[in-house]
Amino acid sequence: MTPEDKKRAAAEAAVDYVKVDTVIGVGTGSTVNHFIDLLAAKMGDRISAAVSSSEASSARLLALGIPVVDLNEAGQLDLYVDGADESNERLELIKGGGGALTREKIVAAASREFICIADDSKLVATLGEFPLPVEVIPMARELVANELRAIGGTPRLRADFITDNGNQILDVHGLQIDDALALETRINQLAGVVCVGLFAHRPADLLILGSDDGIKTLQRQAAPQLHPTTQ
Ligand code: 5RP
Repeated sequence: MTPEDKKRAAAEAAVDYVKVDTVIGVGTGSTVNHFIDLLAAKMGDRISAAVSSSEASSARLLALGIPVVDLNEAGQLDLYVDGADESNERLELIKGGGGALTREKIVAAASREFICIADDSKLVATLGEFPLPVEVIPMARELVANELRAIGGTPRLRADFITDNGNQILDVHGLQIDDALALETRINQLAGVVCVGLFAHRPADLLILGSDDGIKTLQRQAAPQLHPTTQ
C-alpha cells in the first residue's frame, strides 16, 4: 500500500464514527482531504454542517456541498477529525505541517471527541523528528526564535508562507520531546507566540492508522470510548 492508500483507508474508517445530522469539526491536510471526499460521498446531505480549521478545507467542503458554519454559531461539537504529522502512544501530536495549527487547536478544544487519522509512519516513540511548527506574530519572529534556541531547538522560518490568520511559522528542528505537556505550556507562554503545534493538553482520543495490515486503532487511556456508528 502507498502512504496515500493508507491515508485514505484511515479516513474511510473515520467516516464510520460520524453521526448523522450533526455538525462535525474538520481538520486540514491530505489525509483530511480524503476524509472530506468520503464524507461527502457516503453521508452527503445527512451531515448538518462542518466547522472547518482552514480556508482550504472550507473550500473543499463547500465544493462538495457540505455547508461550513462558524464555530461561534456551532458551539460545542461532538466530533473533530484531523490528521497529524506525528503521534506518540499517548496520542500527543505534532501538527501544523500544513500551517493550520491554530484553528486546528481551537476546533479540537471545542470538540468532545477527537479522532486523528494518519498512515502508520506517523506513529513514533518520541515526538520531535518532525520539525515543531510555531505560529508567531511577525514582529515577534526573532524574539521567539531566540527563546526557541534557548529551549534547545533550531527554528527556521517557513519560507513564502502566511497562515490563514496572517502570521508566520517557525519550524523548530532538533527537539526530542519527552515531556510534551511541559513543552507546550512553555512555548505557549512566550510573548509573540500565537500557537504551538503540540497537542498534548488536548491530545487525540482515538488514533486510526492505515497500514499494510489494515486499519489499526489506538484509544487514549482515560479518553471516552469511541465506537463506530451504524449508518
Ligand atoms: C495541518 C496538519 C495536518 O494534519 C498534518 O500536517 C498532516 O497532514 P497530512 O494529512 O497531509 O499528512 O496539521 O496543519
